[in-house]
Amino acid sequence: METKIYKNPVIAAKETALTVAKAVNENPGKLFCFAAGDTPMGMLGELVELQKAGKTDLNSVYYAGLDEWLGVGYKDKGSCAQVMWDNFYGSAGILPERINIFDGLTGDPLAEARQMDAWIKQHGGIFFTVLGIGLNGHIGFNEPNTPGSDSCSVVLLDNVTLEASKKYFDTPQTLSKGITINWKTLLEAKEMVMMAMGENKASIVEQSFKGPIDPGVPASLMQRHKNLVLVLDEAAAKE
Ligand code: GLP
Repeated sequence: METKIYKNPVIAAKETALTVAKAVNENPGKLFCFAAGDTPMGMLGELVELQKAGKTDLNSVYYAGLDEWLGVGYKDKGSCAQVMWDNFYGSAGILPERINIFDGLTGDPLAEARQMDAWIKQHGGIFFTVLGIGLNGHIGFNEPNTPGSDSCSVVLLDNVTLEASKKYFDTPQTLSKGITINWKTLLEAKEMVMMAMGENKASIVEQSFKGPIDPGVPASLMQRHKNLVLVLDEAAAKE
């Protein structure tokens, strides 16, 4: 594992966007998977700028949405679909046929999981993923102790996650489940960047990467990844 510590989230976003753009430019046709939380938004914004400046072609690769809250869709401000379309896919002009995301409004979450499995398989697996870390150590919606699987998972959301969900939505939601690419599939990605910013992530970063591998702290499972790059700002690296 390589750890990169930047002075602040703005510099971390710019530098990580350059890394991702280089990977896009060198690997046309590959599958990229970005988390939709607050953490990677600066980086995704920088990628949009690189696209506008002609420094990368974001339409040369494919995308798999990492996760979604079940019960919400694009029209719900705060859903992963809305956040990613309005801040990345849409603003970068990425063609819809390049993108596959989970439909959180589906009546059949297992079918939704299977269609994402098929998309990932069709594109030769995930090539490059950029992940965030939840306050309880979740990645995507792989909550503590989510079993490893070769298929996407429907997961009961942890109380820590339900509390954190309030920061994304502008209206109250009755959420209980999420759908996510499983951590085992993420571990198979060729390249992995995990980002954490701010003092409130310092403790979970320490638990995930200074402690032992523990299924109760899903981010720690990523210690097994050969090419993991951990990107922190100074506040998140405090511990
Ligand atoms: C969210 C998402 C994850 C995200 C994590 C951290 O709930 N399910 O994909 O990486 O929690 O979010 P944030 O970056 O907003 O702290």
